[in-house]
Amino acid sequence: MADNQPSESELSAELDALLARTRPERVVVVTGAGISAESGIPTFRGPEGYWTVGSREYHPEDMATEAAFSTMPREVWRWYLYRKGVCNAAAPNVAHEALARLEGALGERFTLVTQNVDGLHLRGGCSLARTIQVHGNTDFMRAVEGDDTPIPIPAGVPAIGRDEPLSDEAWELLVTADGRRTRPHILWFDECYNEKLYRSESALAAAEGCELLVVVGTSGAAAIPYHVAAVALKNDAAIIDINPGSNPFSAHAVDRAKSGKGLWLRGSGSRWVPELVDKLTG
Ligand code: APR
Repeated sequence: MADNQPSESELSAELDALLARTRPERVVVVTGAGISAESGIPTFRGPEGYWTVGSREYHPEDMATEAAFSTMPREVWRWYLYRKGVCNAAAPNVAHEALARLEGALGERFTLVTQNVDGLHLRGGCSLARTIQVHGNTDFMRAVEGDDTPIPIPAGVPAIGRDEPLSDEAWELLVTADGRRTRPHILWFDECYNEKLYRSESALAAAEGCELLVVVGTSGAAAIPYHVAAVALKNDAAIIDINPGSNPFSAHAVDRAKSGKGLWLRGSGSRWVPELVDKLTG
């Protein structure tokens, strides 16, 4: 090809060769917004992410904070119920479904670490046990004080349209069974990863023991994929990055291709994840 990019058939052959060479037993898959892009979930930082409160426009980085929640909890809840509605209206795509097949084949040798809060991996068939949702899930809430075990948002809480108010009836439902106020079960920008709520240590432990790390649709902006990759690569795992655009993981994959343990599958999740899963399970 004119720009020296490998063709799809060349990439397929390289994938065969990498898997034949490395024969991975334990696989960690890290996913980001790119895997849900083809399900129609708008990107976090795109125009859809903006939110107007009164005469003021907020950026997602302002709304998704404990600081915002502590000063305007109803507005932050309203924004999350809107986002939950968008996620719930989307359907898992072939890449989500393929990862569920991989879990079915590998069982405990498979770990999925997702930054996505859209719940599409679970709806696509991956189990909660094998899916580490390091940034939370828009379908869950937890108490602000006391026991903070995540619980599903009650079915009676309606999805909210962009310009719709949050009704008092819905607000009253956003409490625990014993009446404590709740917040969305989301890791906010001014908060830290932790094991109890987000299983971040478990993600690193899985990376420690894997022979293959697959990264799909993430730019590497958040800390956890970066740390998971660092741990896996320190232990000499192979790395496959699936992404149409270059990113820190494609750079690692290209670098490790020299020792036969890296491959950048330049393309979409729906193009490459099913093929990778077929080859890993075939
Ligand atoms: N298939 C695979 N990858 C894709 C596709 C696709 N169809 N479309 C886009 N991508 C890639 C882009 O090239 C980009 O590298 O998905 C990536 C999306 O990057 P981000 O929008 O930064 O998403 P993500 O990496 O998940 O963001 C990390 O930052 O704001 C926080 O909490 C938020 O979880 C989010 C985190």
